[in-house]
Amino acid sequence: MYDLVAVGNPVYDLIVTPKIATKNRILSGCSTNACLAARKLGMTRVALIGTIGKDFVETFYNDLRYRGIEPCIVRLSEQTGGFRLVYDERGDRTLDVLGIAEQIHFEDIPAKYLDTKYFVLGPVLGEIDRNLIKSLRESTRAKIFLDPQGLVRRVGRSGRIEHSCDRLEMREIMGLVDFVKPNEHEGEVITGEQEPLRCLETLAEMRDGPTILTLAERGSLLFDGEAYWRIMAYRTVALDPTGAGDVYAGSFLFEYDRVRRLVEACSFASAAASIMVENIGPDFPLTCEEAYRRKVAVGNARIT
Ligand SMILES: Nc1ncnc2c1ncn2[C@@H]1O[C@H](COP(=O)(O)OP(=O)(O)OP(=O)(O)O)[C@@H](O)[C@H]1O
Ligand SMILES: [Mg+2]
Repeated sequence: MYDLVAVGNPVYDLIVTPKIATKNRILSGCSTNACLAARKLGMTRVALIGTIGKDFVETFYNDLRYRGIEPCIVRLSEQTGGFRLVYDERGDRTLDVLGIAEQIHFEDIPAKYLDTKYFVLGPVLGEIDRNLIKSLRESTRAKIFLDPQGLVRRVGRSGRIEHSCDRLEMREIMGLVDFVKPNEHEGEVITGEQEPLRCLETLAEMRDGPTILTLAERGSLLFDGEAYWRIMAYRTVALDPTGAGDVYAGSFLFEYDRVRRLVEACSFASAAASIMVENIGPDFPLTCEEAYRRKVAVGNARIT
């Protein structure tokens, strides 16, 4: 049995923040970073399912195997997915497309991966759709965690990412999974609500079950099925915020699997994600020891 299987295309990105810029494209993506976090924390059987271009496929296999993650490339694409991400001083980012890899279909997923404790669905740009999620729900007993970021992105004019979604379809999709975690911008696209608590309340009305809204350095909000909670961020200086939400996802599942308590899992995830933002690229020094140490300083409070 696998511990965690992440579905979503890996990307090789260029990143520019007020503090640092990459020279070459570096490995990232929601599925990748969630796997990295889970593996660094101690989950042992971790796999990533996606598509990638011929140009990066060998690098990708090496990058993953070296880090103890099983790669499953279901198809070779013409292009490798990737963005040029540029962050401003406020932490807001623009994404320009460098390449787009192909779709992943449910039929592509080898049956052995259905036998996992957790799925992370972490699309970067529309490579997963409702059909895959529906079929997956019908075929596995695993708990499914959805980061909807790649479901609300479209390629706009001149290759810049714009955000939109079909709200009825999102409602259906969110009803199929066990956990949902958009960031505040994605939450606004899905609900039309800008104010974070109102946004989370609306998300919670759209589905049944635990829902998280992440707010970058302002922490995150959790609806645990009954009550609303505020989870603080660990105070630190961000070098590159890319992947914070992805590491939050992988770390949340690691801790949820251990303690089965949502507030504890979110606090731990917040602590773990703070290690990601201090670094750039896939080799962030996340360890259980350091995440638990930071978790002590991550407060939480019940809101209602
Ligand atoms: N500057 C920061 N300092 C401390 N913690 C942070 C910071 N930025 C993010 N985090 C932690 O990471 C979590 C997720 O961050 P964020 O809301 O930016 O996710 P995201 O936008 O989905 O990121 P990405 O899509 O790049 O993975 C936050 O809820 C917080 O706990
Ligand atoms: Mg995200």
